[in-house]
Amino acid sequence: MLKVLLVFGTRPEVIKMAPLIKEFKKYADRIECKVCISGQHRQMIDPLLKLFDIKVDYDLNIMQANQDLEHINTSVLREIGKILEAEKFDYVFVQGDTTTAMAAALAAFYKKVKVAHVEAGLRTFDKFHPYPEEVNRKIIDSVADLYFAHTQLAQENLLKEGVRKKDIEVTGNTVIDALLEVTDKPFDFQAIPKLAAFSRDKRKLILVTAHRRENFGQPIRNICEAIKHLAAEFSKEIIFIYPVHLNPNIRRPVYEILENIPNVLLTEPLEYLPFSHLLKRCYLVLSDSGGVQEEAPSLGKPVLVMRQTTERPEGIKAGCVEVVGTDTKKVIGSIRKLLKDKKKYQKMSRVKNPYGDGKASQRIVKRVLKEKL
Ligand code: UD1
Ligand code: UDP
Repeated sequence: MLKVLLVFGTRPEVIKMAPLIKEFKKYADRIECKVCISGQHRQMIDPLLKLFDIKVDYDLNIMQANQDLEHINTSVLREIGKILEAEKFDYVFVQGDTTTAMAAALAAFYKKVKVAHVEAGLRTFDKFHPYPEEVNRKIIDSVADLYFAHTQLAQENLLKEGVRKKDIEVTGNTVIDALLEVTDKPFDFQAIPKLAAFSRDKRKLILVTAHRRENFGQPIRNICEAIKHLAAEFSKEIIFIYPVHLNPNIRRPVYEILENIPNVLLTEPLEYLPFSHLLKRCYLVLSDSGGVQEEAPSLGKPVLVMRQTTERPEGIKAGCVEVVGTDTKKVIGSIRKLLKDKKKYQKMSRVKNPYGDGKASQRIVKRVLKEKL
């Protein structure tokens, strides 16, 4: 019997690990799978645990208001170390590039437990973009034993860093498994009164998300100024829905600049079911999120990425993603162009998703079952 511990703590990690947990369950006679939540996020993950029916074996509950990276790192490192001391696991699975994932991988390495990295090999080659994720994922990949790359390009990045091909499996991204499962479920916007009127509005809907640490300060203010300007310039043509991340460094400027604009709806972070249905319903997406860049192309939605660079160039190559940065004028110009240039819009919305086909978790578990200890 193979024994694995999955460690995660933030919203995107729950979404991306949920399909894997479901797949592991099918092989309960061969793999014992336990789940540890760091609690790096709290309100933003609890509904997801319920939605995906995830049974939690360990909850470290570490979240503090406006927490710093040192807090997340040291508390996860110490607590995972204790778990690995008390219970023997063959693999610790981490996903992506959060500080929970990095600290858990390091804790496993310290205890000489093998590390499996889901979504391995993403790189921007710029250590401050995204910050601290680029360095987090490099640390994870330097201690990992099994690498699940979501695309060929991610595999190539790993090979260039000296990872052996036999330790890599190209699987697609598990977020597509989750998205397909959830968008398949029925959802009625009337269930959320705040969204109901906006969902019936005939104007084009632009869905916004932003949370990156490197966008704190002036960049997030620039983004909000761009939205404010566009909302006035195109008041008859567009509406914005912006579920605002709970990070106080984001909330403060967003509410200060965008509150009380009639065609801009600010909401609390949305649960995954309504959010993914909004993705389906919107005209285009304006975001600095990693996961959203992967999901939107599956639903035929162009994404404008408000960052300096992306570790997901596959979307740019496929033609569905454009990196627009955080300069107010540049963001305004890019949206204006997409609203006016129908050909460009159609080109961006009709691409094959480069990030997966909904079977990533099956491939991961199939590979794990082949591993000899
Ligand atoms: C974290 C990850 C980032 C990931 C993002 C997904 C790190 C360093 N950052 O960033 O890689 O892309 O999650 O959303 O790992 N908060 C709440 N309730 C919640 C969640 C957050 O109140 O459920 C507030 C708290 O004040 C918390 C703050 O947001 O201290 C920041 O949370 P944190 O996880 O440190 O950073 P994120 O920006 O969410
Ligand atoms: N998401 C959500 N509700 C929201 C905003 C995003 O459920 O209000 C989902 C989104 O569909 C994607 C994930 O959260 O699957 C992305 O998380 P986030 O942007 O916080 O993190 P990142 O992907 O940038 O690490």
